[in-house]
Amino acid sequence: MKFLIKNDHLDKEETDCIIVNVFESYKLSSSANYLDECSKGYIRSFIKLGDIKGQVGEILVLYDVPNIFSKRILLVGCGKKEIITRSVLKKIFKKTIKMIKKISVKNVIYSFTDLNLNVKNNIYWIVRCGILSIQQSLYKIVKINNSNQKNINLELIKFNFFEKKDVLIAETALKHALAINLGITSAKNISNLPPNICDPLYLSNEAKKLVLKYPKNITVEIIGIEEMKKLGMNAYLSVSQGSKNKPFMSVIKYSGDNIISNKTIAFVGKGLTFDSGGISIKPAMNMHEMKYDMCGAAAVYGILIMAAELCLPLTIIGILSGCENMPGGHAFRPGDVLTTMSGKTVEILNTDAEGRLVLCDSLTYVERFSPNIVIDIATLTGACVTALGESVSGLFTNNEDLSNELYCASKETNDKIWRLPLFQEYEKDLYSSIADLSNTGKGKAGAITAAYFLSYFTKKYSWAHLDIAGTAWKSNNKGATGRPVELLSQFLLNQVKNY
Ligand code: BES
Ligand code: MN
Ligand code: ZN
Repeated sequence: MKFLIKNDHLDKEETDCIIVNVFESYKLSSSANYLDECSKGYIRSFIKLGDIKGQVGEILVLYDVPNIFSKRILLVGCGKKEIITRSVLKKIFKKTIKMIKKISVKNVIYSFTDLNLNVKNNIYWIVRCGILSIQQSLYKIVKINNSNQKNINLELIKFNFFEKKDVLIAETALKHALAINLGITSAKNISNLPPNICDPLYLSNEAKKLVLKYPKNITVEIIGIEEMKKLGMNAYLSVSQGSKNKPFMSVIKYSGDNIISNKTIAFVGKGLTFDSGGISIKPAMNMHEMKYDMCGAAAVYGILIMAAELCLPLTIIGILSGCENMPGGHAFRPGDVLTTMSGKTVEILNTDAEGRLVLCDSLTYVERFSPNIVIDIATLTGACVTALGESVSGLFTNNEDLSNELYCASKETNDKIWRLPLFQEYEKDLYSSIADLSNTGKGKAGAITAAYFLSYFTKKYSWAHLDIAGTAWKSNNKGATGRPVELLSQFLLNQVKNY
């Protein structure tokens, strides 16, 4: 499927379908109006019949429109004319794709006009949101050992603009959208794999493949069990020791061509390819969903792909902390006391609180790159889902500027986050009589105590933690969401303003 940005005469375009928008109270957008005038009032006559009122997502297909070369015109309702939100815009694009699938066209032209997101760079956001919505609504989970059946005839999608100046802006939006889409799709694809295929070794091999794809900008180092032992990453190692699948931590180093700042930004992703809970084993119900416990690592992988696709002029480190948490004769136990890479000791009270153990050593490891900013991404706690539900990721940070920047990117992408506190009052929840810390909180604020635990290991840089336990995948076999790849892609794009 190909996308093009155009500045053509809509009426003369030989295509299968032109999509134009209409608003509530029977208002035509300027593109709809243009086609109406070309066709001597043909469109308006249908609107007058009341077949489409202009409400959000309403659709009407017209055939054989006089003086129009396109085989069809698809009218889509966009609601009130004043201001449209990103989520409504998304819905509108999704509706059009659903209809396009039904009527099985090959070429379409979108000509949406008068849409107002009430933001700077309106055209940019409409095109970017549009292309991402289109591509993501066509996403299908890859079936194992079954050549993926093609489900759509769509070959070419054009976005048409009346003004030349909009074409340039739209082209940037297209470029960005394609890179972000590849990041999201790559993240979803590895997240959706079963845990017997996507184990820690598999994750590290996927990381290594990035070097072949982006040889100029990416290098990868894999830290295996022996190296971890030398480094003293005992918390990470303990989690893996019950599994026959060895741990692998992939360290992806990305460096753009014309670096514009000497900042280093690091992303650390929790990569539990399966979390059974270990000796503190989880209940059977929905345990299969713990294959998604590597969605943080998958997001990091996706973010690096997007950065490499756009060749962003930044230095980025991506860490995929691959590991499997299993019970067994070699497994670590409740009661064990471990010495982390940082030197701090941790008493294990629950082997199911494993994410923080893998992460604390990864967060210490990342210090060697002297990063200015470190963002970890983890399906860390069920408590975060209780606190914020399934649409909003938890944000925790030790830096106000970083908090603002993440909120800004979140608003721009509608990839929602909400900050929770790290007040000192939570410190006592991690008290251990035998070690520096215990790995589970006694308190009730489980998402916060998990983040508070991590905060002990992130003193040397500006740090943010995103708990994506509620947002990384959808239950009932609906698969991974690819969040927060768009949020963090935007965060990176904002670092290179005017890029
Ligand atoms: N991976 C889970 C968190 C999780 C649970 C994510 C359900 C999404 C859905 C994590 O490793 C875990 O088991 N956390 C425990 C921590 C507890 C033992 C302190 C939890 O949230 O119950
Ligand atoms: Mn767990
Ligand atoms: Zn886990």
